[in-house]
Amino acid sequence: MKIQTNPQEENFEISSRTLTPVEREEDYQQKSLRPRSLSEYIGQEKLKDHISLALSAAKSRKEPLDHILLHGPPGLGKTTLAAVIASEMGVSFRSTSGPVLERAGDLAAILSGLEENDVLFIDEIHRLPRVVEEILYPAMEDFQIDIIIGQGPAARSVKIDIKPFTLVAATTRTGSLTAPLRDRFGIVERFDFYEVSELSTITIRSAGILDVKIDSAGANQIASRSRGTPRIANRLLKRARDYAEQRADSIITDDVANSALNLLDIDSNGLDKMDRMILSAIVEMFDGGPVGIETISAALGEEKTTIEDVYEPYLLQNGFLKRTPRGREATSKAIDYLNKRQGTL
Ligand code: ADE
Repeated sequence: MKIQTNPQEENFEISSRTLTPVEREEDYQQKSLRPRSLSEYIGQEKLKDHISLALSAAKSRKEPLDHILLHGPPGLGKTTLAAVIASEMGVSFRSTSGPVLERAGDLAAILSGLEENDVLFIDEIHRLPRVVEEILYPAMEDFQIDIIIGQGPAARSVKIDIKPFTLVAATTRTGSLTAPLRDRFGIVERFDFYEVSELSTITIRSAGILDVKIDSAGANQIASRSRGTPRIANRLLKRARDYAEQRADSIITDDVANSALNLLDIDSNGLDKMDRMILSAIVEMFDGGPVGIETISAALGEEKTTIEDVYEPYLLQNGFLKRTPRGREATSKAIDYLNKRQGTL
């Protein structure tokens, strides 16, 4: 049974067992493109190797897998990997997220409903309120939760045993996690941006699932403009499919992908309008920097955390931006890039 909560939480539903974000159509489609096993999961080779070793060890000992913290920029497959882990362990996957869990009781209800060795996935764990986080400590360590029964002077704390489980948590920022929480994860893995060749393989696999024809140059074109991110590659693939079906011969070739992506204002480096606005704000308004993130955020009217978590990592990794103790600086690569585009955002 699913009950709709109050309108302020319109993106979420409470089910009888877990709190889960309501799926938007994009999430739903994305899900069908998601690999279901480690062997289908492309890229992140080192990380997969570590997880695969831990998985087989836990399975042969018939124990739950150690708690796992996955960190890295959005869209690189953290949720997907968590679901793959559950499926490889042959257990249920329960999913929730930090900002949804407002009260200690929300998490206590989920934890007490878990079955033996289940995987509980908490996305955006850095946004878990402190009172909720404290429920996690004994749950992760001793598979126990402390709950308060009664009110006022009659209130007392009782320990309840819960079934052994694995917490898989994801965050875009490990720096924001408290030390006691971070220390309770046995496995901590970082996601890297994907290589163009890996994204190309992912794009071809997704095209097969979406039943759209694509050639290797078309896949390569999409892959090289997807900022190292499978979620973006899958989104661009769908836009290229629209273009191929409506304005070409239903096959995604190099030319078709190129035209579709130009239409979306995504350039050959994979940078979009917001990336260009960030770079040109630093160069034109602040003389190339250094400039503080708050100032950039105010100048562009974009949330600081969105700039930091979504846009910056790729700009930093690709040498468009530098982070210095005094703020962000545009590199000479960024200046050359903007000069070449000459005022066209
Ligand atoms: N779809 C999204 N991420 C993927 C990955 N890493 N491997 C295969 N398909 C994916």
